[in-house]
Amino acid sequence: MSTSEEVYAASALDPVETQRLVTENVADTSVFDQSIADRARAIIARYPQARSALLPMLHLVQSVEGYVSQAGITFCADQLDLTNAEVSAVATFYTMYKRRPCGEHLVSVCTNTLCAALGGDAIYAKLKDHLGVGHEETAGEPGTPGSITLEHAECLAACDLGPVLQVNYEYFDNQTPDGALDLVKSLQAGEKPQPTRGAPLTDFRQAELQLAGFFEGRDADLDGPSAAPETVRGAKIAAERGWTAPAMPDNAEFPPLPEKK
Ligand code: FES
Repeated sequence: MSTSEEVYAASALDPVETQRLVTENVADTSVFDQSIADRARAIIARYPQARSALLPMLHLVQSVEGYVSQAGITFCADQLDLTNAEVSAVATFYTMYKRRPCGEHLVSVCTNTLCAALGGDAIYAKLKDHLGVGHEETAGEPGTPGSITLEHAECLAACDLGPVLQVNYEYFDNQTPDGALDLVKSLQAGEKPQPTRGAPLTDFRQAELQLAGFFEGRDADLDGPSAAPETVRGAKIAAERGWTAPAMPDNAEFPPLPEKK
């Protein structure tokens, strides 16, 4: 098995956290039963090489446990013929892979520059006060009804609709601190408010299953409206007025590529 040093070189984690994820203790993977193994095989079959299936496989294990546990890392490594260190390096690089169990819902508040200036910082502060937790912490017992994991998020690619937040990666646009507080309170009460756009709300684990490519009879979720009117307004005006971009000339010259150093 590869060492924690290899993982640490490829991840943004401190050595203690890295060591936890690549511990050589034998992890109990029994939580990943035959039905999960079957799904893993279905994911792997989508790719020419098994290792290419790692990202959706990590979403699959999160759909089971609500985070990427040591057992989840071992399960992925066994299925994909990778080392625990290789899986850990990937799982610790991307923020969508959680290192602690998440709540029923994951609330991601954009606090990047534009949203922060428009009120994202105030929204985060209001939710932090209400929930009594900080970044990547959970109010309530993780996984139980009404439990909420709060996190800062970097730009969520919806700056024209800021400040925005996401619940289980579905968008709630043009938020205010009071509106966001009402939203979180309704989640805690077991309600599933309709996102501004996208699929109807489920919960974190169900969203993770969808990210792994399994829709469980919810295929209609794929058809949810994804573009906001504000986002496509420019394209709509151009279409109404017959404006088009100049065609690319057949003999267009491209600037030379810089030499590799
Ligand atoms: S800064 Fe918040 S969506 Fe871009």
